Amino acid sequence: MTQSFTSFIPPTRVLMGPGPSDVYPKVLEALARPTIGHLDPKFVDLMDQVKQLLQYAFQTDNALTMPISAPGSAGMESVFVNLVEPGDKIVVCQNGVFGGRMQQNVERCGGIAIMVQDDFGKPTDLNKVREVLLANPDAKALAFVHAETSTGVLNDAKALCQIAKEFDCLSIVDAVTSLGGSELQVDKWEIDAIYSGTQKCLSCIPGLSPVSFSEKAIAVIKQRKHPVQSWFLDMDLVMGYWGQGTKRAYHHTAPVNSIYALHESLLILQEEGLQNAWQRHFKNHISLKNGLDKLGLSLLVDEKYRLPQLNMVLIPNGVDDALVRNRLLTEFNLEIGAGLGSLAGKVWRIGLMGCGSSQKNVDYCLSSLETVLN
Ligand SMILES: Cc1ncc(COP(=O)(O)O)c(C=O)c1O
Repeated sequence: MTQSFTSFIPPTRVLMGPGPSDVYPKVLEALARPTIGHLDPKFVDLMDQVKQLLQYAFQTDNALTMPISAPGSAGMESVFVNLVEPGDKIVVCQNGVFGGRMQQNVERCGGIAIMVQDDFGKPTDLNKVREVLLANPDAKALAFVHAETSTGVLNDAKALCQIAKEFDCLSIVDAVTSLGGSELQVDKWEIDAIYSGTQKCLSCIPGLSPVSFSEKAIAVIKQRKHPVQSWFLDMDLVMGYWGQGTKRAYHHTAPVNSIYALHESLLILQEEGLQNAWQRHFKNHISLKNGLDKLGLSLLVDEKYRLPQLNMVLIPNGVDDALVRNRLLTEFNLEIGAGLGSLAGKVWRIGLMGCGSSQKNVDYCLSSLETVLN
């Protein structure tokens, strides 16, 4: 017997976890506009604008800059399946959960992941990276997570890319949580392959993954000995659809309305200005930190490498992690994140991402937390 269901009306939450973040109302409006064909000339024009706006967000002239029609994990996979061939050695820095996913990607591509491990909550140690690259002169790439969402650490992407250059390696960067929130300079730092997500500091809906590949990375892809094992993520084929000019070959049906939404969120970023957006994320992080100090709560990560858009708050002894998060959600409609991996039960993750990075949200979070903790 079929049950009779009704339309889903979500509650109105304040999203201050590790993502998704609150979506700009203008982005939701754009999403609701009429769907047009994905090869309609008007849509093709929009695709070109999205590429240019993403070049601005990434600070790059890379022609191969576009959103993958799937979430950040697909962006991650697109980078690895295109650049890694069986037997390739890839140095992977891990200081959180997402570095571990990079390792799995390398290994599933038949590559050899040489790990540089650092404790969760600490940054990647540049000296260790140098040592590993010295011991592995045949390494093809250095892969790392810029903003580790699982630990609240901002790794030194500029220095890591510089080291990759010194050792003639490609650099592969996870910028899922850094794009739009922290300084990120794809061209200046000579990043070769980068992927991000739309649901964090862009305050767009989840489900798209902006990526960008340098000329050097494209040359490596073109010289592959084996075809890319993923048909959907083979950049050669994807480019036929997202490529230059008006002639586009059908590859897959783009999520048309999601691209409207991304376009709108990138317009908002452009209007604010990248530097201003980075500064705003930092300013609100400091404001949250000062308020947490007053509540007697401290942060896990050392000040020098704290990620402004994701604050790791140490749960005081004797406080029930799940109970507090549950009360915040049910009584205040406020979502904060739980700890991941080895940090589960030890920290709360408070996100200040995209339009959610505001003084209003800082104040709301502090006052709600204070009430619940009292
Ligand atoms: C650093 C990092 N990489 C990759 C991902 C995966 O992105 P998605 O959940 O959109 O697939 C996330 C998601 O939180 C992330 O924080």
